[in-house]
Amino acid sequence: MNSALRVGVAGLGTVGVGTVKLLHDNAGLIAARAGRAITVTAVSARDRAADRGVDLSGMAWHEDAVTLAGDPNVDVVVELIGGSEGKARALATAVLAAKKPLVTANKALLAVHGTGLAEAAEAAGVALAYEAAVAGGIPVIKALREGLAGNRLSRVAGILNGTCNYILTVMREEKRDFHDVLADAQALGYAEADPSFDIDGIDAAHKLAILAALAFGRPVDFAAVHVEGIRRVSALDISFAEELGYRIKLLGIARETDAGVSLRVHPAMVPKFSLLASVDGVYNAILAEGDFAGTVFLQGRGAGAGPTASAVVADLIDIARGSQIPVWGAASGALSNSATMPIAAHVGAYFLRLMVVDQPGVLADVTAILRDHGVSLESMLQHGRKPGEAVPIVLVTHETSEAAIAGAIGRIAALTAVLESPALIRIEPN
Ligand SMILES: NC(=O)c1ccc[n+]([C@@H]2O[C@H](COP(=O)([O-])OP(=O)(O)OC[C@H]3O[C@@H](n4cnc5c(N)ncnc54)[C@H](OP(=O)(O)O)[C@@H]3O)[C@@H](O)[C@H]2O)c1
Repeated sequence: MNSALRVGVAGLGTVGVGTVKLLHDNAGLIAARAGRAITVTAVSARDRAADRGVDLSGMAWHEDAVTLAGDPNVDVVVELIGGSEGKARALATAVLAAKKPLVTANKALLAVHGTGLAEAAEAAGVALAYEAAVAGGIPVIKALREGLAGNRLSRVAGILNGTCNYILTVMREEKRDFHDVLADAQALGYAEADPSFDIDGIDAAHKLAILAALAFGRPVDFAAVHVEGIRRVSALDISFAEELGYRIKLLGIARETDAGVSLRVHPAMVPKFSLLASVDGVYNAILAEGDFAGTVFLQGRGAGAGPTASAVVADLIDIARGSQIPVWGAASGALSNSATMPIAAHVGAYFLRLMVVDQPGVLADVTAILRDHGVSLESMLQHGRKPGEAVPIVLVTHETSEAAIAGAIGRIAALTAVLESPALIRIEPN
C-alpha cells in the first residue's frame, strides 16, 4: 500500500472531533477504499487542556492553526474552525499558498471568499474540497458537480437549515408560536444561544450561494442572495397554509430565468404532498432539476458530528486517491457571468394575511387596491364574523410580480381597518 495521507485538523469542536473519531473507527475500510491509510498527524484548537473525548496522542499540537500549513508532516489540512474571516481565512490562504490541498466545512468562508480561494487552489494545482459545507451528511456537492455534470440545471431548491426546519415543524405539529419553540430548541441544543445566523436565513444563504455557483457555473456571490428568515412566520399562518394544502418551509432557491439567476432564501409555501414538504424536523433536503436527469431529490442529516465528519472524510478519500475536480465544477476562467435577477422581478403566487376590523367595505377596499396593481385572486379564507373586532383574512393570488404585490401591500397596510403589518409568503410550485 502507498504511504499514508497525513492530515492536519484545525478545530476540534463538533466536526473536528467527529472527523478524528471517524478516521480512527473506520480506518481499515477507509484505507482500503482510498488505497492508502489516512492518518491525523497534527491538530490545533484554542484550548490545549480541554478533554475532547478522543485520543490525540501521537498528534503534534499547533498553538497557532496557521502553522499547520507549513508542518512537513502534514500533506492536507482540514479547516474546521468556522467563520468567514480571522483564523479560518488566514489558515485557508496559508494552506493553498503552501500548495497543499484544503478540506473545509466552512460555508461562510466559501460563500464570501470562495472565488479567490478557488483561484488560489487552481494556481497551486491542489484540491479545495468542501462537501461538508452544504447539508452535512448529504453528498450534494458531489451530486451536482460530478453526478449531474452533463446536465443543464434549471433549478436547485432546498431545505438547508435544520434548526429552522425543526422550529417550523414543531410550530406546525404543536400549534405553538415561534419564540416559544425557539426557546425549547435552544434548551435541547438544536439552536445556538445566538440563533440569528440560522433563523435569519444567513446560514442557508451561505449554502445556497455555494449550490448556485455549482449548479449554474458562475462565481459564488453571497451578496446576490435575497435573504429573509423565519422570525415573522406565525402559528396562525402555518395553520392557514395547512388548510389551503400547503406547508411553510424555509427554502433556498436558485433558479435560471430569462431575467437572470434568481437567488433567494425565504419562508415559502409548498404543496403539502410535494417532496420538500415531506421533510420534517432537523432533516435537510435538496431538489435539483436537470434537463436530462429530470428531478433528483436528496435528503438526510444536514448537521451533527457524524454526518458532517462523513462528508469531510469523503473529501479526504478523494484527495488520497489523487482525484482533483475543479472547485466550482469548471475552471475559474470558464465560469459564466450570467446576471442575477433582483427580487423585485420575481414572479409567482402569494399568500397574504391581513388582520382587519370586521366592518362593511374592508374587503372591497382591499380587492380594489389589488385590482389597481393588476393582482388577481385565486382564493380567499375568512372564518366566522366578529363585527367590530379584529379578524384574519387570507388571500391567495394568481401569479403576479413582486413589484406589483409590494405596491399593493404598501397601500393595503395604510388602510385604517388593517390593524397590523400584513403577512406575505411566496408560494413555490413544488
Ligand atoms: N456542527 C455542525 O453540525 C456543522 C455542520 C456543517 C458544517 N459545519 C461547519 O464546520 C465548522 C466547525 O463547526 P463546529 O460545529 O465543529 O464548531 P465548534 O464546535 O464551535 O468548534 C470550533 C473549533 O474551532 C476551534 N477554534 C476556534 N477558534 C480558533 C482559533 N482561532 N484557532 C484555532 N482553533 C480555533 C475551537 O477550539 P476550542 O475547542 O479550543 O474552543 C473548536 O475546537 C464551521 O465552519 C461550521 O459552519 C458544522
